Amino acid sequence: MQKILVINGHPNPEASVAGKAVLNALESSRCEMQIRTLAQLCGPNGFDVTAEQEALRRADVIVWHFPFYWYSVPAILKKWIDDVLTRGFAHGAGGTALHGKKLLLSFTTGAAAQEYAKGRAMNWPVEAFLPPLLQTAYLCGMKTLAPVWSNGMIFIPGVHTEADRERILKQAEEHAARLLDEIKACAEN
Ligand SMILES: Cc1cc2nc3c(=O)[nH]c(=O)nc-3n(C[C@H](O)[C@H](O)[C@H](O)COP(=O)(O)O)c2cc1C
Repeated sequence: MQKILVINGHPNPEASVAGKAVLNALESSRCEMQIRTLAQLCGPNGFDVTAEQEALRRADVIVWHFPFYWYSVPAILKKWIDDVLTRGFAHGAGGTALHGKKLLLSFTTGAAAQEYAKGRAMNWPVEAFLPPLLQTAYLCGMKTLAPVWSNGMIFIPGVHTEADRERILKQAEEHAARLLDEIKACAEN
């Protein structure tokens, strides 16, 4: 049985609609996993790096779950990456703790899928923004699974409608199902 660790990189999990719905769907699946919510774990002195590294050591599959912010991860997840994936642990001499583990990027975007194209608002396909994260995994010896993302997931109360919320919740369930399929497929290979 693969041990799955989900790093929830939402800076404001209480206000999340899409990301929270994905996590709810994952939690109500029969798949066992640990979810670590960075906004709850980052105290005035930052993260407990030892605890974060121990959680990573125990995991076989690591999921970075986050809302897409400025074409990347939110600052709190970037801080976690900076602070936790240290030399000697995740890379550099003796830094083999993550070797062979699998990393899956799971994220939601505000913009609709058709905006991620040349000449449209985002001007590039979503995949064009992922190499720094994929390379981070590579340097740490992790194997990346196919990223799972959902577009058009922004919900602003008072701006978006109940119908929008319903669509987002449905897409979030499909997102969670794709994510679980991806993890199951890698367990079989
Ligand atoms: C600071 C900030 C930056 C954002 N940057 C992007 C972006 O680069 N591309 C995009 O499609 N959406 C962007 N969004 C929209 C979020 O990705 C979207 O609201 C989020 O995925 C919805 O998930 P949530 O309900 O879990 O917060 C941004 C939102 C914020 C607040």
